[in-house]
Amino acid sequence: MNKLNPIGIFDSGIGGLTVAHAINKVLPNEEIIYFGDTKHLPYGNKTESKIRSYSNQITNFLIRQKCKAIIIGCNSASAIAFNSIKESKGNDALIINVIDPVIRYVQNDLSIRNIGIIGTNATIKSMTYEKKILNLRNDLRVSSIATPLLASLIEGNNKNCDINKIIKRYLYNKKFAKIDSLILGCTHYPIIQNQINVFYKNRIRLISSVNVIGQEVKKQLKKNALLNPNIIKKNTKHKFYVSNLTEPFQEKTKLFFPHSIILQEENIFS
Ligand code: DGL
Repeated sequence: MNKLNPIGIFDSGIGGLTVAHAINKVLPNEEIIYFGDTKHLPYGNKTESKIRSYSNQITNFLIRQKCKAIIIGCNSASAIAFNSIKESKGNDALIINVIDPVIRYVQNDLSIRNIGIIGTNATIKSMTYEKKILNLRNDLRVSSIATPLLASLIEGNNKNCDINKIIKRYLYNKKFAKIDSLILGCTHYPIIQNQINVFYKNRIRLISSVNVIGQEVKKQLKKNALLNPNIIKKNTKHKFYVSNLTEPFQEKTKLFFPHSIILQEENIFS
């Protein structure tokens, strides 16, 4: 694998942009190819076999673009499709999910005692976070709540709905009465981090992949001798592909990547 090749990142929509942005901050010399599957959003309400099928097809597309590493910038796909992507034949790219680095963070921060998790139906139902956390730290109290409306609202699919009301409706829950930390277990949620902080009056620590994914990708690329040693060329443009080009996606991409990028619709699904 050539260390000058790009890294691939994918999500169902704009959520993975939080991941791409975090990686770009730590690794500004890595070229990015992004795929947002806006046609099939939300992933969180899909069956496991659909999530696996979309994730595998996107991975194959990114492999065809010669990506040296694929970052699954989606918790639902990380929970459901990580193993099947890793095991798929003919794929020697590095595969990184967004859940494991968050688990390691929780493992190492012993001030965390009582932790909540929010995520899509698929992520919460899989219990991936609970199982992995309790496996490493059985001293913790862990509780989770599925918040399935949030990703679509953040994506901009229902402008008439007040997202603060929905946040309140989900988070006023006995299960979370005593938490000291909350995992934002969906890559869309860092976009509404401020609103969640307002709800908790900044008293709860919010943990998400954006805090840890940049360093994780750097560590893994280094370990596999895949870090790009060159300074990125001025005319290099990160490429963003979507299965359905929407206005909110265009706006959000410009917000996260204000400099010149390529953004285009691409139908990769069979
Ligand atoms: N951003 C995604 C996640 O982290 C998926 C949201 C969705 O499409 O349901 O789970």
